Amino acid sequence: MTLEKDSPCKVNLLLNILGRRSDGFHELETVFHPVKYYDQLTFSRAAGGVQLSCSDPALPVDASNLVHRAATTFLSAAGIKDGVRIHLTKHIPMAAGLGGGSGNAATTLLGLNELFGSPLKVEQLHAAAATLGSDVNFFLQSKPALATGRGEKVESLGDFPAMQGALFILIHPGFGISTPWAYQNLARFSAALNGTPGRAQKLISLLQGTDLTVAGDAFYNALEAPALEKYPVLALYQEFFREQGAAAALMSGSGSTTFALFTNRTAAERALERFEPKFGGNCWTAIVPV
Ligand code: C5P
Repeated sequence: MTLEKDSPCKVNLLLNILGRRSDGFHELETVFHPVKYYDQLTFSRAAGGVQLSCSDPALPVDASNLVHRAATTFLSAAGIKDGVRIHLTKHIPMAAGLGGGSGNAATTLLGLNELFGSPLKVEQLHAAAATLGSDVNFFLQSKPALATGRGEKVESLGDFPAMQGALFILIHPGFGISTPWAYQNLARFSAALNGTPGRAQKLISLLQGTDLTVAGDAFYNALEAPALEKYPVLALYQEFFREQGAAAALMSGSGSTTFALFTNRTAAERALERFEPKFGGNCWTAIVPV
């Protein structure tokens, strides 16, 4: 039997950092929103071990791959001696702040748990996810969510009324940003490093209302401090989309993807048509309904 699963991505509508912790990670509050743009994963049982293949030759398929690590973690936690064969078809840009790799890891945990008849309970899947990365737990569920701690404590929220019918424009500039680099360089920006808690709850309340433009002012990402200093073009993208009528424009996660939110498809398509001759070059772009 082969099981096929879509593996989604995310944006952070808000990423407020509350200081550096003694373990080297950063305490944060973040509002994740799922994005319906997918990689695909297929799973089947095989002889011992994990055999991974991938559509993108740039991605290693050995034990350094997060899907490989997720599969090994699953088999060990579930006490399964059999092996698995996994194929990953990549569409989501990498080192993009879209959580593609984290989503792949979570989808692997969910897919293998389904393939082997649910040996792990939800709490065990969450424990496994937290060992794989800070964003992996979010992808074990499919709703917008508030995450705290280093990002692994996830509270599922209902769909936001203010975002109903809206569209994401996603722009990947053609270069990636390393997450450790972004966090290390945050040290030079004291206000961004030591944010005041409560911004996430404020944004959530606004998104539970009906006016996305009002909520747009509360979108925030502390990791823009180092990223926009090094890559000023990302600030120009945001300015451009706001001029084109976006309700919000922000970098997602540690970058390098910019997202803009439009309430109207025609306006979003027109904005992207104007973006391409101005900045297009090496960019990957997508319009994805919320
Ligand atoms: O957990 P994850 O593998 O996504 O983290 C990648 C890197 O990002 C960590 O090694 C750390 O440098 C940084 N990070 C952090 N604080 C967080 C999440 C990530 O410092 N809350």
